Amino acid sequence: MQVAVRVSYRLRNKMKSYHDIVGDGGSGILEQVAEHRTRIADGLAGVRHLVAVGSGKGGVGKSTLTLHLAGALRARGLRIAILDADFNGPSQARMAGVQGALFVPGSHKVSLPRTSNGIGVFSMGSVIPESQALEFESAAQGESQTWRATREFALLGEILGSFEWGALDLLMFDLPPGAERTVQYADFLGPCTSFLLVTIPSEVARGVVARSVAALSKGPNRILGYVENMSGYYCRDCNAIKPLFMSSETPRLGIPCLGTVPFDPELARFCDGGISFAELGDTTIRRALDDVAQQLLESLI
Ligand SMILES: Nc1ncnc2c1ncn2[C@@H]1O[C@H](COP(=O)(O)OP(=O)(O)OP(=O)(O)O)[C@@H](O)[C@H]1O
Ligand SMILES: [Mg+2]
Repeated sequence: MQVAVRVSYRLRNKMKSYHDIVGDGGSGILEQVAEHRTRIADGLAGVRHLVAVGSGKGGVGKSTLTLHLAGALRARGLRIAILDADFNGPSQARMAGVQGALFVPGSHKVSLPRTSNGIGVFSMGSVIPESQALEFESAAQGESQTWRATREFALLGEILGSFEWGALDLLMFDLPPGAERTVQYADFLGPCTSFLLVTIPSEVARGVVARSVAALSKGPNRILGYVENMSGYYCRDCNAIKPLFMSSETPRLGIPCLGTVPFDPELARFCDGGISFAELGDTTIRRALDDVAQQLLESLI
């Protein structure tokens, strides 16, 4: 009884209803949001192109292509950085060889770790060991889903606003899987971010990517085109590309194809070992990645 009285006293005297709240309720939230947006815009002011590498489908090679297309462009002298936006499944730290890299203060903000070939990389994998998951703890029971999504984008905003992106030709976002999440990222990153989609020659993958195309097409973001990854298996013994998937269908994604990249076990080894594009040598896989990088550049003009 005493407890009930105390609770109702607290409710009567402390809690406000919507009608009691004037403006932003004194939180200054509108100013905070505006300030935050200005900080992000200032931080990205020196970046010429923003490209998000997505798919909708998981495991099709988004992270691999992000890193190695960045490598191919870097080899042409472009200034490139990667933001690994897959906070819960970060791959770039390992692939780019920046696991355990320290975030050190720069002249104004936090300096970006760099790969051996000079690509700036932010990846959660640099700070969180692979044995641990990133957890966004919910303030309220049963609301962790909403909380997680909110926190994820708040974190992305923090990263964009806190690191020194500097003068770049291209900032690439390595997106997590999920067609709906791809659109959420498009909403958050804004209309200046263009999309490069990745698929593989399976109808299942193409179906998911087609959903992402349909969803993205409703918004203002440009879709530069798609890359078909794992389009055949590169056999080093016979120096030939053999079929990997049995699908004979030509893709019907309705967007430009920027090229195809075969599955090469050597490339997978490079990814696992954090070996850079520069060390690929004059190989079939390097030429395939180079061709896609060229198409990507032309699509940005
Ligand atoms: N063309 C390729 N040749 C060899 N290995 C590849 C190729 N493309 C991707 N891989 C390998 O396949 C695995 C999955 O690739 P990756 O992590 O890039 O996919 P993803 O789409 O980013 O996955 P996720 O949806 O989990 O983010 C990795 O081990 C990568 O090294
Ligand atoms: Mg990935």
